[in-house]
Amino acid sequence: MSIEQLMWVEKYRPKRLDDVVNQKEIVEGIKRILASPAGMPNMLFAGPAGVGKTTVALCIAREVLGEYWRDYTLELNASDERGINMVREKVKMFTRYTSIGISIPFKIVVLDEADEMTSEAQTALRRIMEDSATTSRFILICNYISQIIEPIQSRCVIFRFKSLARDDVVNHLANICKLEGVRYEDKALDMIYEFTSGDLRHAINILQAASSHGIVNDASVRSALGISYKAKVGEVIRLALEGNFNDARLRMLELTRVHGLSERDFIKFAGEEIMKQSSKNIELLKVLAEYDYRLVVGAHPDIQLAALLAELARVGRSSSSSSKIDR
Ligand SMILES: Nc1ncnc2c1ncn2[C@@H]1O[C@H](COP(=O)(O)OP(=O)(O)O)[C@@H](O)[C@H]1O
Ligand SMILES: [Mg+2]
Repeated sequence: MSIEQLMWVEKYRPKRLDDVVNQKEIVEGIKRILASPAGMPNMLFAGPAGVGKTTVALCIAREVLGEYWRDYTLELNASDERGINMVREKVKMFTRYTSIGISIPFKIVVLDEADEMTSEAQTALRRIMEDSATTSRFILICNYISQIIEPIQSRCVIFRFKSLARDDVVNHLANICKLEGVRYEDKALDMIYEFTSGDLRHAINILQAASSHGIVNDASVRSALGISYKAKVGEVIRLALEGNFNDARLRMLELTRVHGLSERDFIKFAGEEIMKQSSKNIELLKVLAEYDYRLVVGAHPDIQLAALLAELARVGRSSSSSSKIDR
């Protein structure tokens, strides 16, 4: 089985603009533009994760380039550690080879995570875009438009993607269940939405994980979320051990308040993560046990968990060179 068949997020990634869930204004705007494809401008897609930015970019490539779309679309990730030089080299090579005998209006470069680039790199990118203007169009993708330098913004048509609404997500998940022949309870799909707040990629991944229990219900979703919680708690612990107390605390509050992870579960997952992440785990587990006890006897959870993270940050800092094993 190919990876596209294995992962539902890929298997159900829309191939045509008409199949994109919601983002109606964007789809309408793009259709108007594509009515005369030769006039397609550079575009900048902004918005949160998992709402269709990459999907729409690839739909455009299919629409404009037809059967040649794979050969004449270059997908790059700007946060690649090789940076702007890698982008320059790849774009140069890509735009250089000609498409003799094939009638496509231009090639398409899709550059993801453009807002991860420094402003110097973005200035260089702007040059690259101008130099290849006769051969290529760019679709830049970012989370935060404010992180994109003005000269790039002003050279692109900007599309702002929104988080998907509850009904959109729940209906899409229900559809996938029907196509996969998986039984589901409506309440469970709702729960997935609650946890993923409009990130359809995350929602589909949880749905698939839950479905491996044979049915998508309260219990199987909880179990799938447990795996997801664990990864998120791991992130909080990593931030704390790096000494980044403020971010760690905010993420912790997001997990407990927004996503409803119980404080004791937080501590349980934190223990597993500390074993994995820190060479000082004996010392840290003692700290953890102390806070676990305080929660049991009824101390204020937010304050206790914040104090715990502060303690981890302190220990982490005092051993910053030895605290991380393999990252
Ligand atoms: N608007 C959408 N319509 C249909 N599927 C979507 C949509 N947004 C996300 N998805 C699903 O989530 C996956 C990831 O979407 P993607 O377009 O890569 O998100 P991003 O906005 O992070 O680029 C897709 O493969 C698809 O299965
Ligand atoms: Mg993407």
